[in-house]
Amino acid sequence: MINFDFNTYNDTNVVIDENKKAQFISKLYNDKMSGFINNMIDDNEINRIINVSNNIKKTSDILIVIGIGGSFMGSFAISEIFKKHFKKLDTELIYLGTNLDSNYLLEVIDYIKDKDVSINVISKSGTTLEINLMYKLIKTELEKKYSKEELKSRIIITTDKEKGKLREEVSKYGYTSFEIPADIGGRYSLITAAHLLPLAVANINIKDLIKGYKKGIDLIDEAYFYANNRVELFKKKKYIENFSVYQGNLYYYTEWIKQLFGESEGKNNLGIFPVSTVNTRDLHSLGQFIQEGNNIIFETVIKIENNNDLVIGNTSLNDLNNIVINSVCTAHKKGNTPSMIISLDKLSIENIGMLSMFFMLSAVFSSYLFGVNPYNQPGVEEYKKEIKTHIDNNIL
Ligand code: PA5
Repeated sequence: MINFDFNTYNDTNVVIDENKKAQFISKLYNDKMSGFINNMIDDNEINRIINVSNNIKKTSDILIVIGIGGSFMGSFAISEIFKKHFKKLDTELIYLGTNLDSNYLLEVIDYIKDKDVSINVISKSGTTLEINLMYKLIKTELEKKYSKEELKSRIIITTDKEKGKLREEVSKYGYTSFEIPADIGGRYSLITAAHLLPLAVANINIKDLIKGYKKGIDLIDEAYFYANNRVELFKKKKYIENFSVYQGNLYYYTEWIKQLFGESEGKNNLGIFPVSTVNTRDLHSLGQFIQEGNNIIFETVIKIENNNDLVIGNTSLNDLNNIVINSVCTAHKKGNTPSMIISLDKLSIENIGMLSMFFMLSAVFSSYLFGVNPYNQPGVEEYKKEIKTHIDNNIL
């Protein structure tokens, strides 16, 4: 269950124009990229993902997941939420593709050399430099250990149905493959094989995630209200939104949120710049700025009502954490930094599915309110194009 406390936003005095809301909802459902809400994954695909994940877990010490941006952030963020800090998975996940750091890559090559490895390379376009490079690097390592036949089940490619270099690899070598539907954009692809396969290998119950995600559609009114508040705050020169969490394992989830809003609405010199803090750590670093610094920040807090409770002396840590959250919001409000609190009754996979749909809907509505296309990323394409003018085309 998720609750929204918009109280500290009160001074935005948002009044919803019902006609405009109806138009935006219709636009949402009719957009050619509306697959994240219209084109839900079917049971056959879910079962195939689970079967392939079971096979990976049976045959591999390590799954190397190669992806970036919307083809990486979701599965990484959610597996981080539910991972046990001091217990390794039987099949360890190593994510590659988010940097070109040769020191780290040399360590990875050394680490995997005497282990059984599978790879899942994920790229909708199949033209992303980092991904194609990492794929080449790791595939070469795997070719040293496994026959062509064995590679068919150890190399799993998740990409566009027809286009791109990676699809050519599937046709040429018969590797296992999954499709990212054409009507679902990268950062909206949480409930596709792009994220569900790595999550299934990380022992996340993907059926619960999907169940929550579908339930999240019921939060459309809250998402619309939240989007309107964000844009209203922007008009009042609140240009930065700080997503604040009080559980360390939600840190990468805030990274996912930042990517979602940043790439969706940061266009035409508009948009709210998303940042995040993990408290109470950052109360003793950025908290001072948020309270009394340049007045361009507002906050969205994700609160977990009931954690596994730990009692120190007579004090429940869970209760104390919640007192801290409310106190910080009150203090920040005094410094003219309004916050709104999103409360999850517990940190469950289903709740995270629901919350993720809420944020996706909010990102689309916010983009519509700013008058920009939520689904493209022309700025990103620009840097990809620029790189291509400087390198050998064979890499891509
Ligand atoms: O959200 C998006 O669309 C982007 O972040 C892409 O996912 C990212 O650029 C990676 O693209 P691709 O999956 O084509 O390699």
